[in-house]
Amino acid sequence: MTKITNPANQIEKQLPAELVNFMQVAGEVAQSQGQSLYLVGGVVRDLLLGRANFDLDLVVEGNAIELTRQLIEIKQGEITTHPRFGTAKLQWNKWSVDLATARSETYVKPGALPRVKPSSLSNDLFRRDFTINTMAIHLNPSRYGELIDLYGGRDDLEHKLIRVLHEKSFTDDATRIWRGLRYEQRLNFQLEPNTLQLLKRDIPMLDTISGDRIQYELECILQEERPEKVFHRAEELNGLQSLDPALKGNGWLAEKFKLAQQLTSPNLPSFGLYLALLAYRLTEEQSGHLISRLRLSKSVAQTLQNTMAIKTKLQALANPALNPSGIYRLLHGYSPSAIMANLLAGDSNVACQHIRLFLNKLRYVKPALNGDDLIRIGIAPGPRIKEILQLLHQARLDGKVTSKQGEESLVKKWLANKE
Ligand code: CTP
Repeated sequence: MTKITNPANQIEKQLPAELVNFMQVAGEVAQSQGQSLYLVGGVVRDLLLGRANFDLDLVVEGNAIELTRQLIEIKQGEITTHPRFGTAKLQWNKWSVDLATARSETYVKPGALPRVKPSSLSNDLFRRDFTINTMAIHLNPSRYGELIDLYGGRDDLEHKLIRVLHEKSFTDDATRIWRGLRYEQRLNFQLEPNTLQLLKRDIPMLDTISGDRIQYELECILQEERPEKVFHRAEELNGLQSLDPALKGNGWLAEKFKLAQQLTSPNLPSFGLYLALLAYRLTEEQSGHLISRLRLSKSVAQTLQNTMAIKTKLQALANPALNPSGIYRLLHGYSPSAIMANLLAGDSNVACQHIRLFLNKLRYVKPALNGDDLIRIGIAPGPRIKEILQLLHQARLDGKVTSKQGEESLVKKWLANKE
């Protein structure tokens, strides 16, 4: 990291003019009311590292909700407030900025959300997870651009270290274990030795965290460029096993994640697809436990269950003599992510070819005729219509018919044969 002497220049250099302008105006308004406004947290860390990050977090020693209300009069946009936490979000065009009243936190019970009360910037920074996230930049015009580094964040940034601020940090909030691993792997930093010891000591505290919060951490990890690195490290430190003892973050997972990224490029793989790969080697029972531990939504849970169900059909799918309608019968109705997970994780070439054919082509095949057409041709309304539509679908899948006229002749032939 190059030594940055003037963070104000860095702001100008790295952030879009519209955001810079917003911060300057916000600083002026805050100062005119005797309040102090700061840019804090991840964006300051990333400004110093020269990494792109436009998620502005502002902290005011004063009242964030009132300040945001004043700003909205200058800047047309939408405001969302959370009076209980003294926070507000301001959104305009494609931009979004979070404003918070400086606060301190007390953790009444490990794993539960903290009690918060208004406080000074220094307390607000002290409640944070790692030193590299505790830096702030003054935004009041009189001190604009001044870096505030109370807990050695800059030094740790230079030495590439992830360090907690006090030894109860992971006990208070064990989600920081996952956050720590995520930063370590994203930035190619190291957990500072004492922090590493505390993290290992507090792995069991992950059990105090609700399923929703763990799920959120997994979602954050899975939005990283190399999520598999975080899981690999978590396995090394016995953290992955806290989700399920059978989970593995080894080379197999890395390879499958890479294939998943290639398959869904330019988009990232969905949460469901990634999770299906992570859980692929679990038994059905273990996968069921994971679903309840993470309190997964119905649709993601279904992806995991579908993945297991398709796994039991891989042998049938590996039959080279299987025709397209046979492939369709085995795979239709399952979530596309579950099918993709099996495509990536299965080890039979033939099964993979069949799955690929389904995903690329067969799942979109439909007969051209519908029920009304069949009635027009002369079939009496009733269950027979559904049967014929199914037969037509099958014929389409197997390439026995390729046009609407072809379908009509086929139906007429069936009818003639029946008579
Ligand atoms: N924070 C914390 N403990 C948590 C979650 C968040 O102390 N369990 C603090 C961190 O100091 C962080 C800030 O709240 O800087 C904002 O959180 P978030 O937006 O999740 O973090 P960013 O630093 O913006 O990280 P990222 O780059 O991953 O988005």
